[in-house]
Amino acid sequence: MNRRTSAARLLLAAGAGVLLAGWAAGRLPRPDAPPADPARVFEQRILPIFKSPDPSSCVQCHLAGVDLKHYIRPSHEETFRSLRDQGLLDLDRPAKSKILTLIQMGADDKAGAELIPAKARKAEYEAFAAWIAASAADPKLRAAPKLPAADLAGPKRPVEVVRHARTDRLLASFEQTVWAMRFRCMGCHTEGTPENKKLVDEHGERVAWMKATPAATLAYLRASNLIDPDEPEKSLLLKKPLNAVKHGGGQKFLTGDQGYKAYRAFLEDYAKVVKDQYPDAKSLPKPDAGPLRFGTDIWVKLTDTPPAWADKYVRVDVYAWDAAKKAWEAEPVATTDRRVWGGGKLWQHNLTLQAPRGSDRAKAWQAGPPALPKGRYLLKVYVDRADRLAADWTATLGEADAAGSVEVESAWPSGYGRMTAADARRVTK
Ligand code: HEC
Ligand code: HEC
Repeated sequence: MNRRTSAARLLLAAGAGVLLAGWAAGRLPRPDAPPADPARVFEQRILPIFKSPDPSSCVQCHLAGVDLKHYIRPSHEETFRSLRDQGLLDLDRPAKSKILTLIQMGADDKAGAELIPAKARKAEYEAFAAWIAASAADPKLRAAPKLPAADLAGPKRPVEVVRHARTDRLLASFEQTVWAMRFRCMGCHTEGTPENKKLVDEHGERVAWMKATPAATLAYLRASNLIDPDEPEKSLLLKKPLNAVKHGGGQKFLTGDQGYKAYRAFLEDYAKVVKDQYPDAKSLPKPDAGPLRFGTDIWVKLTDTPPAWADKYVRVDVYAWDAAKKAWEAEPVATTDRRVWGGGKLWQHNLTLQAPRGSDRAKAWQAGPPALPKGRYLLKVYVDRADRLAADWTATLGEADAAGSVEVESAWPSGYGRMTAADARRVTK
């Protein structure tokens, strides 16, 4: 045999090897091919996913608790039995298997596409599709006995934790916390407003961290350095408005006020979710049973505040008059809080409206701009005389802190220049 033919043979052999590997991996169609060997497909295409440090496509929506890797056992046979016994495989129509549906979830979600490259999802999908098809064609595998329940492979966390750690749940919580309080910040921070453009010229794009929608704002914040998952209470998102780190907008939060509480609760929960620190259902934060919150640019002010309130934290709850019952409603329809400007004997801030979840009021405010009808209202005033909130941010003021109440008649127009005002000297018990 001369040199040329042996080189040619070697080349031929190498070419056949490549082809065989391609067939085995299920990438190349092979006419009249015997069914692919499921063990081989598993080893070559599923195990690499299992061993990869990269997140699977599931993280687009599941920040913790469940991952594609959790469904894979080290052997192809046990992985098959585990998926089959959990109803995640359709052996008669392999392409309809539920595990494939899970992998395809979010494939058309453009926002998520930045997180999970289409290529990665496609690789997962094709690997599982090829392996399921090969396994379903193997009568011995199909007939394999049930896997003991303890060996079933699935989500690492209980279903309550999996649900809590979903991105749509995170967004819902963001809307009720950071987003509901946006009117305390948006004048300066909403991207594209005239005021924001001025500040961007001065300080750079980073001032435009508030976007047009809650989802876009949350996505920006998650990718920014404004949230510190290791020490959430030290996040710039909290330190800046406290002016604990020098803030161009001055002090916008007091420790323990409604804005602070909302941001802090969101940040702490976010950190635990992304760091997978909720091991079980009972470690989750209690579901927020309180009213839905709607931020507004409706302002209320108290004039001529007494010297005893100077520079103290004050909360005002607004109660609507119920004409049918001839009484004030039992729960406040709006609330806000802030420090009194002692020097000016003035207290003012914008209202957060609130309505029970599912109520007609909540539905109306979800559909249109939240507003209060013209009528009689009672302002109940609470004063933190002993600075309790500064000592414990979770504290809330109660009846012992009530300074009294004052009635107002208002149509509650929106805007800083159109405040509903009450004389603080008329606040009585
Ligand atoms: C585009 C978003 C999205 C992607 C991507 C996604 N899921 Fe989900 N997943 C959801 C939603 C929303 C639910 C709850 C609604 C439902 O049950 O259909 C859910 C529910 C689940 C549940 C049921 C938990 C329960 O509440 O009972 C499991 C298990 C699950 N997903 C696993 C996965 C796995 C594994 C992947 C990746 C292969 C994945 N998901 C990818 C959005 C997604
Ligand atoms: C009166 C205008 C104004 C208001 C209102 C305001 N800020 Fe700011 N903020 C600024 C300016 C100017 C900067 C840029 C200078 C700096 O970093 O302090 C800034 C910076 C920030 C930053 C740092 C952004 C970055 O990426 O570096 C955060 C976080 C922030 N503000 C949070 C808030 C929050 C939360 C609120 C509402 C509770 C708020 N701000 C209200 C003017 C304002």
